[in-house]
Amino acid sequence: MTYKSILITGGAGFVGSHLTENLLAEGCQVTIVDDLSTGNWSNIEHLDKHPNLRVLIAPVEDRALLEQEVPRHDLVYHLASAVGVKLIIEQPVKTVETIFRGTDIVLNACSRYRRPVLITSTSEVYGKSTNLPFREEDDVVMGPTEKRRWAYACAKALDEFLALAHFAESRLPVFIVRLFNTVGPRQTGQYGMVLPTFVSQALSNRPVTVYGDGKQQRCFCSVFDIVEGLKKLPQNPEAMGHVVNLGSQEEISIEGLAQRVIELTGSESKIEYIPYEKAYAKGFDDMQRRVPDTSRAKQFIDWNPKYSLDDIIRQVTDYYQTRQQDAS
Ligand SMILES: NC(=O)c1ccc[n+]([C@@H]2O[C@H](COP(=O)([O-])OP(=O)(O)OC[C@H]3O[C@@H](n4cnc5c(N)ncnc54)[C@H](O)[C@@H]3O)[C@@H](O)[C@H]2O)c1
Repeated sequence: MTYKSILITGGAGFVGSHLTENLLAEGCQVTIVDDLSTGNWSNIEHLDKHPNLRVLIAPVEDRALLEQEVPRHDLVYHLASAVGVKLIIEQPVKTVETIFRGTDIVLNACSRYRRPVLITSTSEVYGKSTNLPFREEDDVVMGPTEKRRWAYACAKALDEFLALAHFAESRLPVFIVRLFNTVGPRQTGQYGMVLPTFVSQALSNRPVTVYGDGKQQRCFCSVFDIVEGLKKLPQNPEAMGHVVNLGSQEEISIEGLAQRVIELTGSESKIEYIPYEKAYAKGFDDMQRRVPDTSRAKQFIDWNPKYSLDDIIRQVTDYYQTRQQDAS
């Protein structure tokens, strides 16, 4: 890693905690800014006494704190965000405000002190496009503003515009990553994430709850592969000012995922189908398929995911089983 001192907003979250752990293992100094809204102290508890880690429990919207911390570091990862379909539908104001205001404050501090910054955006930005696989320069097809789900996608798209505007106006070194479904140990099912929900349902032999008809397809990528991409990208100046997809191209239907989880966990669970109207408050809209084109990631950082879906399901299962043992 060419950067030695790194600030991570959202570092106590799922992706952020793995990134933190990996960078500490490389000998970097890491500071986390996280308000623990969707993240959890338990994600970083094992790193608490690490001599190269500082943890600041604070909102990313704390402008004075960001102005103080950004110049002390030579790279900023901005991961703090409202996340998860359930949270986004239930707390639409917080979603838009956290995403847009937080990113604005981070970018302004990075601009003032000229610090490179990587922002995590999302495959949701492609909206309802059916032009697969999704390429970064493709048109996006957004749903109506009356359907709350699209607030997340629009706010993240606005973050991308703002970051690219800083790059265009002052050559601020910005890197933008669109993450596709990222999964692995420490992800919580609390905010609507599918894999941790399925694994914990299967491990306790409860019904595995599939929303809709389960024919919608997704590609799941290991957080360990994503962290490698997040580390490599800001080390290549050619990636500066670009949007880059990171995700797996291995597609599976949600119904197929449920079956695979039941099989690999040796569960006696049955699948239960729940209509979207029952699963979510009014304002939900879904898309059938989402597959990334990863040519840019290959071109810039020679990136390819290494873990298969079965590997990931086993890792998540081990994680939940260990936690159950810890708790008992
Ligand atoms: N996990 C995925 O599948 C996925 C997919 C697409 C994009 N992303 C993006 O990756 C990033 C990380 O997501 P994650 O899956 O690790 O989610 P997460 O919820 O585990 O992590 C987000 C972290 O940000 C913190 N946070 C939220 N609002 C904050 C605020 N106002 N101030 C300070 N901290 C705040 C949370 O406490 C949490 O620790 C997010 O930007 C998300 O939009 C994730």
